[in-house]
This record gives sequence, C-alpha cells and structure tokens, in this order.
Amino acid sequence: MRDAVFGDFDAIARIYSHYVENALATFEEVPSSADDLRARHAAIAAAGLPYLVAELDGVVTGYAYASAYRPRSAYRHTIEDSVYIADGFGCRGIGLALLSALIERCERGPWRQMIAVIGNSGNAGSISLHARLGFEHVGVLRDVGFKHGRWVDTVLMQRALKSASDVAA
Ligand SMILES: CC(C)(COP(=O)(O)OP(=O)(O)OC[C@H]1O[C@@H](n2cnc3c(N)ncnc32)[C@H](O)[C@@H]1OP(=O)(O)O)[C@@H](O)C(=O)NCCC(=O)NCCS
Repeated sequence: MRDAVFGDFDAIARIYSHYVENALATFEEVPSSADDLRARHAAIAAAGLPYLVAELDGVVTGYAYASAYRPRSAYRHTIEDSVYIADGFGCRGIGLALLSALIERCERGPWRQMIAVIGNSGNAGSISLHARLGFEHVGVLRDVGFKHGRWVDTVLMQRALKSASDVAA
C-alpha cells in the first residue's frame, strides 16, 4: 500500500473505466481520462487527504481515496471514501487492505466521520466490506440514479473516525 503518484493514473483510469462502463457502483457514465483523474487527485492531495494504491508485482490492482463529503463548509470534518479493485483481482483481500489503510490514515487527520455512498443496493461486496470495517448502515436513497436502463439506489454507510468527545473542531 502506498500513496498514488502521477504515473499510476493510466492504470487507475483503466480500473475505474471498467466500473463506469459496466457497473452501477459509480453513477458516472462516461469514462474519465488519466489526466482528469490526476486533476481530481491533485485536489484531494491539496486538502491533505489520502489517495492510496495497491500493487501486485509492480501492477496497480486497486486504489482507495478519501474526498470531501460535500463542499459546504460545515461539512469540513466529514469525508467520503472510494475504493475500486481491478476487474479480475477481487476477493483477494485487496479492498480490505486498502480501505483499512485509508481509515487508519484518516483517523490520524482532523476528520471525524467517513461516509460510504454505495451505488446500488445489490452491491453486496462493497456493503459487506464497509460493514466489516465498522461502517453502519444509515439509509438508502431509493431510485436516485438511472443507469444501464434502470433506476438505482445509493446505500449510505457511516463510520466515526473519532468520538464526538474528542478535541473540539
Ligand atoms: C467492493 C470491492 C472494493 C471489494 O474489494 P475486494 O478486494 O474484492 O474485497 P476483499 O477481497 O478485500 O474482501 C473483503 C471483504 O469484503 C466483503 N466482500 C468482498 N467481495 C464480496 C462479494 N462479492 N460478496 C460479498 N462480500 C464481499 C467480504 O466481507 C470480504 O471479507 P471476507 O473475505 O472475509 O468475507 C470490489 O469488489 C470492487 O472494486 N467493487 C466495485 C467497485 C465498488 O463497488 N466500490 C465501492 C464504491 S463505494
């Protein structure tokens, strides 16, 4: 597990495009270029948030990052996680390792709550992964997306990064 660098984004764009084009996990429908994703990474890094990649024999097999949950200022202590594993590399513990490392990094920062906005109520892999790492199911937004010809829910899960009694914001 290591921080993402400029040269990782061709692989990251390939990994993400698979889910943009074939899955309901993300509500994006048009693949992003490596440069688009580098620009998003720059904003994440500028906010001091982690963006991690997993590598196997020198090949990027997955990535996870934290980003602002919503832009309005009172949300500044709340972040959202994203984790994507290369097609064909699932169920080998990579997602668990990435998301665990991401949480650990975020716990060391000033953020207090982490939210997972999971595309598709049927996304058993992501829902179980988050539950395993202490996220609680807090709700479902029904039919808020329309992708691949069907209405799609988002499942909201939440994990505290610090207790409410910790040092004031
Ligand atoms: C969800 C995702 C990140 C899981 O990554 P992964 O590397 O396959 O997961 P791991 O092998 O580390 O598994 C960790 C845990 O996740 C859960 N899990 C993973 N895949 C699962 C599946 N297909 N069905 C049910 N649970 C699953 C299990 O609890 C598993 O623990 P266990 O093996 O002890 O039972 C991966 O499938 C993925 O990239 N999915 C598409 C993108 C996505 O939905 N991202 C989340 C957006 S918020």
